[in-house]
Amino acid sequence: MFQPIKIAPSILSADFMNLENDIRMIEQGGAGYVHVDVMDGHFVPNLTIGVPHVKQLKKITKLPLDVHLMISNPLEQLPWFIEAGADMLTVHAETLEGQWLEHAVQLIHEGGALACVALKPNTPVEVLTPAIADLDMVLVMSVEPGFSGQGYIEGSELKVAQVVDMARAVGNEGLLIEVDGGIGVGTVERVCAAGADVIVCGNAVFAADDPQGAIRQIEALGNAARG
Ligand code: DX5
Ligand code: ZN
Repeated sequence: MFQPIKIAPSILSADFMNLENDIRMIEQGGAGYVHVDVMDGHFVPNLTIGVPHVKQLKKITKLPLDVHLMISNPLEQLPWFIEAGADMLTVHAETLEGQWLEHAVQLIHEGGALACVALKPNTPVEVLTPAIADLDMVLVMSVEPGFSGQGYIEGSELKVAQVVDMARAVGNEGLLIEVDGGIGVGTVERVCAAGADVIVCGNAVFAADDPQGAIRQIEALGNAARG
């Protein structure tokens, strides 16, 4: 919370036919992570990429891979993603009832990756209670998961502030907060002012005329918003 921010471009908006070029471009543009959106056509309507892609990405970049699992069965698949090279693995709280959330966090840590839990826009922060002390990151979704290029849901920054309060209450001062969906120059300041550290950008980077300039501008605006 309130650490210098990092931009995590989402390759969902990249050119899959020239993905290595796009990875080099964001590396040189100052990206902090590569955000990888894994969708199963079940937890979310869309279907994207999976374990083989993560394995190949790991071979071509040193940037940490921030893998966002939007899948119904994360417990089954998460060991495969860690094995493939995910550095940071995000599971959705909505897919892990009761004790299973903590179990997933434990499995991710045992695999040697950083553990993150994501919340859909209508999921209350209270579901994080059993796990928040052990988490490395919380992902606040600021759109309904499933597609890039959607508009930011107004007020999502309030949820970021709630996560800050919860983390402080349990002494997890090192917790990172990531925000995902509709973030760009018009929205980055409010989420960073509220405490976001990792900013996912799909269209705001890859659909920009100058993607590297966009990374730098969004990062500068976010850091300045810290006050
Ligand atoms: C949405 C994905 C996002 C998405 C972000 O379900 O989790 O990572 O690609 O794209 P933008 O920044 O265009 O909203
Ligand atoms: Zn994502």
